[in-house]
Amino acid sequence: MSKIAPRILVTGASGQLAQALRRVAAEKSVVIHVLGRPGFDFAEVPSMRKALEGSRPSVVINAAAFTSVDQAELEREQSEICNSIGVKALAEQCRELKIALVHVSTDYVFDGNLGRAYLESDRPAPLNQYGASKLRGELAFAQSGVRGVVVRTAWLFSDLGVNFLTRVLSQARVQNELRYVSDQVGSPTCAYDLAEVLLAFAEKLAAGWTPTGGGIFHAAGDSSASAFDFALACVRLANEEFRMDAHVVPVRTADRPVIAQRPADSRLCSDQLAAILGLRLRPWQTWLPSLISRALSDPRM
Ligand SMILES: NC(=O)c1ccc[n+]([C@@H]2O[C@H](COP(=O)([O-])OP(=O)(O)OC[C@H]3O[C@@H](n4cnc5c(N)ncnc54)[C@H](OP(=O)(O)O)[C@@H]3O)[C@@H](O)[C@H]2O)c1
Repeated sequence: MSKIAPRILVTGASGQLAQALRRVAAEKSVVIHVLGRPGFDFAEVPSMRKALEGSRPSVVINAAAFTSVDQAELEREQSEICNSIGVKALAEQCRELKIALVHVSTDYVFDGNLGRAYLESDRPAPLNQYGASKLRGELAFAQSGVRGVVVRTAWLFSDLGVNFLTRVLSQARVQNELRYVSDQVGSPTCAYDLAEVLLAFAEKLAAGWTPTGGGIFHAAGDSSASAFDFALACVRLANEEFRMDAHVVPVRTADRPVIAQRPADSRLCSDQLAAILGLRLRPWQTWLPSLISRALSDPRM
C-alpha cells in the first residue's frame, strides 16, 4: 500500500471532537478541512453534496451528531435526521464519490446489562432515542456499502466546549455540593485520544485499506468510572490546585430522574482497536491534571 497524504474533511466544526481533531492534526502537521453548519448540515442534503464535491476529500470523518441524550427524546425527528437519515445520505454520497468514511458512534447502542465490557460482536439494544438513532446510523452505514469504519466511543471529555469535565468544573466554581450518579459505569474517553484514533483510521483508509468484517471498532479510555468517581477526582484536583472548596455526593440513578434512561454499565472493550492500530486510549485519570489546569486557566470558563 502506498503512503498518500489524505485529504480529510471533518464535519461538526463547533463540536468537542472536531475541535480536538483540529488540535491533534495541527500537532501532527496533518492538514484537515473542518466544516460546520450551514456549510455542512444533515438537514440540507444538497449542502452535504456541495461540501463533498467542493473539498473533494479522500476521507470524511463524521464528528457531527445530535448528542443531547435527553433532548433526543423531545426532538426525535431532529435526532433521527442527524444520527440516522443524514448518516445514510452521507454514506451513500461518499460511496458514489469514492470517498472513505470514518463515522463516530456510541456506547449507548448497548443496554448495559451484560456485566462486562462490550465487544464489537455483542448485540446492540439501545435504551433511548439517542442510542436507537445512532444504531440506525450504523446500520445505514453498513447498508450503503461505503468503504470505512464505524468507531464507537464513550463519555467524551476534554477542556473544549461543554462536556463532562468542563461541566463538573463550572459547577464546582459556583456550588459547594455537587451530586453525581454512582451506580452507572462507563469508559471515559479523552477527545484528544479519540482524535488520534480517527486520524490513524483516515490515514489507513487513504492508503487503500479496506476493513474486514463489519468495520466496527470500539475506541474508549482504558479505565472505567462512574460519573461520581470522575467528578470526585476532578473536584479533588481542582480544590488542590485552584483553592476551590467543592465536594461531591454520590446519588443513585433512581434518585436522579432524567428524561432518557441510560445503560447501567456501558464499558467498551477496545482490544480490537489495539490489534489493528497498535493504539490504546489512555485511562481518564492520566489526563485530568493537565486538562483541569488548562480548563481552569481559560478566562472563558
Ligand atoms: N460527547 C459524548 O460524551 C459522546 C459519547 C459517545 C459518543 N459520542 C459521539 O461522538 C461524536 C462527537 O461528539 P461531540 O462530543 O463532539 O458532540 P458535540 O460537541 O455535541 O458536537 C456535535 C456537532 O454536531 C453538529 N450538528 C448538530 N446537528 C447537526 C446537523 N443537523 N447537521 C450538521 N451538524 C450538526 C453540531 O453543530 P452545532 O454547533 O451547529 O449545533 C456540533 O458541531 C458524536 O458522533 C457523538 O454521538 C459522544
